[in-house]
Amino acid sequence: MNDLPIDKDEILNELDLIQQNDLKYSDGRILGSMCTEAHPFGKEIYIKFLDSNLGDPGLFKGTKSIEDKTVQIIGKLLNLDKAYGNIVTGGTEANIMAIRAARNHARKYKNIKNGEIILPRSAHFSFKKAADMMNLKIIEADLDENYKIDVESIMDKITDNTVAIVAIAGTTELGLIDPIEEISKIAHENNIYFHVDAAFGGFSIPFLKEAGHDYPEFDFKLPGVCSITVDPHKMGLAPIPAGGIIFRKKEYLKVMAVDSPYLTVKTQSTIVGTRLGASTAATYGLLKYFGRKGYSKLAGRLMDNTYFLKESLEKIGYNVIVEPELNIIAFNHPTKSPEKLSEELEKINGWKVSVANCPKAIRIVLMNHVTKTHLKEFLDDLKKLY
Ligand SMILES: Cc1ncc(COP(=O)(O)O)c(C=O)c1O
Repeated sequence: MNDLPIDKDEILNELDLIQQNDLKYSDGRILGSMCTEAHPFGKEIYIKFLDSNLGDPGLFKGTKSIEDKTVQIIGKLLNLDKAYGNIVTGGTEANIMAIRAARNHARKYKNIKNGEIILPRSAHFSFKKAADMMNLKIIEADLDENYKIDVESIMDKITDNTVAIVAIAGTTELGLIDPIEEISKIAHENNIYFHVDAAFGGFSIPFLKEAGHDYPEFDFKLPGVCSITVDPHKMGLAPIPAGGIIFRKKEYLKVMAVDSPYLTVKTQSTIVGTRLGASTAATYGLLKYFGRKGYSKLAGRLMDNTYFLKESLEKIGYNVIVEPELNIIAFNHPTKSPEKLSEELEKINGWKVSVANCPKAIRIVLMNHVTKTHLKEFLDDLKKLY
């Protein structure tokens, strides 16, 4: 650390120089991220609420009321009349909260000590962190030939130690939606906590449905669903970090509550203590600013781009792995490995794609910053590399 203060301009110059090493979403080269540039109106609100600490809500009653309203709006979007939950740092924290609620609930009401969680291989790695922190055993449900949970395999994996079943609405690698209605039935009949990870799909499936797309039920309409992760900082265009965890019952927050003696509230259920109010306020503002119509238009446009990319890839001769359900495409070259193609794409024009693991394939997430013009440039390069 320097001894004497340094001039602001000098510091800013240094930071600007360092920041030049970052990629910019607007360059359209980031093709494998579920994050995107936040909407300018979201950024404007964010700055206003930078000092608001949701960890001590008695001091920031206004911001806390914004969080409560945001949870209600998202709850309604997911067909829940009265929602409980929080705007947290992202899908990871939301999933950890869901699993903690399930574990504590099972410990309290079923006396389960060595809990197990059933989840598909396609589940996000955040569940591995949750299981590790809470000493839970992961039981992997099989995937069917379409890379979705094989419902029958769930039946086989349920034991007296099962504390939760997890399904995904918008898998990280392929953007697929698990058969949530059937799993909800199984969970409900067996009195097991059921969490839906809709970190990616939660902000688009309801809007795409409204725009006439056909999707199966995935939310609180299904009686077995206990909680849903839905991230404003992915398809909601909110500034990071903004994840959402919505619970059906207050009880799930209560079983996680610990005493918080020196604060303005008596207990706290979130993992994080001091919590950002800025991204919550930005999320609230953007929900109002876009409205259902605005988000439908956004999700619809990104689906159009997805179909455009899929058809164009097939015309060139690439193999698209599955019919896209959301705005993610996975594809392969007929002979080159995805790792090799990914390297070549980076070399030819700086494209940053990601490589999916199950199955091995190039994975493209068609977020708001990826325009048709970028896609045409990308396709031109793919033609050259074919
Ligand atoms: C389905 C799903 N759940 C959870 C997460 C974790 O979200 P975050 O990176 O915001 O913690 C992701 C991230 O890509 C995801 O795709």
